[in-house]
Amino acid sequence: MLNPEIILTHYNPVTGEMHGATMVKRHLSDLRGCFADTAAYESALKAGNPLLYSVGAVEPASGEGDLHYGVGMLMPGKIGGEYFMTKGHLHSWRPAAEFYFGLTGDGVMLLEDEATGESRIVPLKPNGVVYVPGHTAHRTMNVGTTPLTYIGVYPAKAGHDYSTIAKTNFRCVVVERAGQPVMIERNNL
Ligand SMILES: [Fe+2]
Repeated sequence: MLNPEIILTHYNPVTGEMHGATMVKRHLSDLRGCFADTAAYESALKAGNPLLYSVGAVEPASGEGDLHYGVGMLMPGKIGGEYFMTKGHLHSWRPAAEFYFGLTGDGVMLLEDEATGESRIVPLKPNGVVYVPGHTAHRTMNVGTTPLTYIGVYPAKAGHDYSTIAKTNFRCVVVERAGQPVMIERNNL
């Protein structure tokens, strides 16, 4: 069925908001346990509870072969030396891969192979497309000074597993060193 309401959706490239999409908003208090510097986290939380990011999910159909996508908007900022980040997740259906398209701003994705722990950071910015393979945990960070917006496209049946990351966190952190994002093993901080 070529339903025009399903075929075309408009998003706001500045706010990431979309007409009719389910918006999830995450504030600083929702990211407890994500940042390595817990003292800096608690101190920032005492000063306020800002919006860190929002994701609007477009899920037009959920049959075999269907695709879903989300428009993300991540604010700039840091806690300790770490950039504002998303919680990060694996897909519940582990083989599910995902494409991320940078729209605005200056971001980095942290990828971690679930089986081997191999980690890598990849730029996420306009005119760049990141392919996140299956079985790979992924987290987005804003390393710039303006809101980062992006689109992630994934199989409808991918699902989101946040709890595995919530338990163990990523093996590596991404911090600013001399103005540049650098990946460091959490144990070596
Ligand atoms: Fe994903």
